[in-house]
Amino acid sequence: MTSSRTQVGIVGAGPAGLMLGQLLHLQGIDSVILENRSRHHVVERVRAGVLEQGTVDLMREVGVGGRLAREGLRHDGIHLAFNGARHRIDMAELTGGRAITIYGQNEVVHDLVEARLETGRPLHFEVEGVSVHDLESRAPHIRFQREGTSHELICDVIAGCDGFHGICRPSIPASRLRLYERVYPFGWLGILAEAAPSSDELVYSLHDRGFALYSMRSPQVTRLYLQCAPDEDVAQWSDERIWAELRTRLATADGWRPNEGPIFQKGVTGMRSFVAEPMRFGRLFLAGDAAHIVPPTGAKGLNLAMADVYRLSGALAEFYGSGRERLLDCYSGRALARTWRAQRFSWWMTSMLHRSGGDNPFDDRRQLAELEYLVSSRAALTSLAESYTGAPLEA
Ligand code: FAD
Ligand code: PHB
Repeated sequence: MTSSRTQVGIVGAGPAGLMLGQLLHLQGIDSVILENRSRHHVVERVRAGVLEQGTVDLMREVGVGGRLAREGLRHDGIHLAFNGARHRIDMAELTGGRAITIYGQNEVVHDLVEARLETGRPLHFEVEGVSVHDLESRAPHIRFQREGTSHELICDVIAGCDGFHGICRPSIPASRLRLYERVYPFGWLGILAEAAPSSDELVYSLHDRGFALYSMRSPQVTRLYLQCAPDEDVAQWSDERIWAELRTRLATADGWRPNEGPIFQKGVTGMRSFVAEPMRFGRLFLAGDAAHIVPPTGAKGLNLAMADVYRLSGALAEFYGSGRERLLDCYSGRALARTWRAQRFSWWMTSMLHRSGGDNPFDDRRQLAELEYLVSSRAALTSLAESYTGAPLEA
């Protein structure tokens, strides 16, 4: 077994791990990023699309904002559709100018991988058998295999950025974690289609047949989602069936319709809310989906991951700059405060916009009353806009 040293060992090259590596690099802190999938898989994975202002600003500040500035689509508002009518929410006007930007997570990851490779610092794809050890000591270490050889990486700190199914969180003794979870009785069927967006902004729609979301990736590509069963079989969804369902759920009385075109990607995602507390065990710090999952209706997952690593990098800068651990000690509590705000918002958006399949008509009527109140109240709309566009990363 070969043995080497780094300051921060980062498990996972998703948005959290890659952004942390870049933030540390800019502060002269050494790191090694270990990823068990291939570069192609990581860069091509189709997921989030909505960046909060804070995430856009962070991308620019760490030197990876060029393509985002050119190709990202800034949206000042969103639409809510129900009862056959679309209601525009002017988020920028309600929040004093805050907006969101549409830029695929795969593009974020692409830009961060390029930046990492330029730094010359280690980023290893397709490593196997990753495990973390001696987490409560001052020299925690990571074991893994790479190209048939076993390695041991001794670190000052390990960052668990390995997503919901990673190995870092399960390496913490169960007695030292408290888990909170809610699994929803529905999922999303998502597609990408070669069709020019027919709306400049996203449309979140509640229909008797379930939720539908109209989003996009570029002036040529539409991204759409349909509420479905959590274990829905994609094979049962022909392109024609998908378009028919989208037409039904999205059509509004003003005549608006989605543009249609060839579908080139389809997938089903389950929906859950999940939090692991605390986000630290000894010298292991969890960040992003490794510590928490939100249902995608609030578009918060990627943005929360960025907020976590921004906070963690600040704490590590203090640690290496002065030897103090004050900010490292505050990391979990502060990151969890933001996480729970995002959990509340994501749960609320999800329950307001999805049919839960219950048999009490009261719930359906109450859901409409919630939407009707929302679009009629500036106070309620301001609350939505404030949460959707996101608080500054420090908050
Ligand atoms: P991940 O992206 O999961 O990255 C973890 C990395 O660790 C992966 O590359 C994985 O391969 C690697 N890994 C796992 N195990 C190991 C191991 N043992 N060793 C080494 N590496 C390992 N969020 C938003 O903000 N806005 C949205 O609009 C939005 N929409 C979404 C839509 C869908 C359909 C889905 C599924 C998610 C959406 N999200 C959205 C959530 C967002 O995609 C995630 O929150 C985000 O990917 C979290 O980043 P992460 O780096 O923490 O984790
Ligand atoms: C997306 O474009 O993928 C997207 C947009 C809004 C969401 C979730 C996903 O709430």
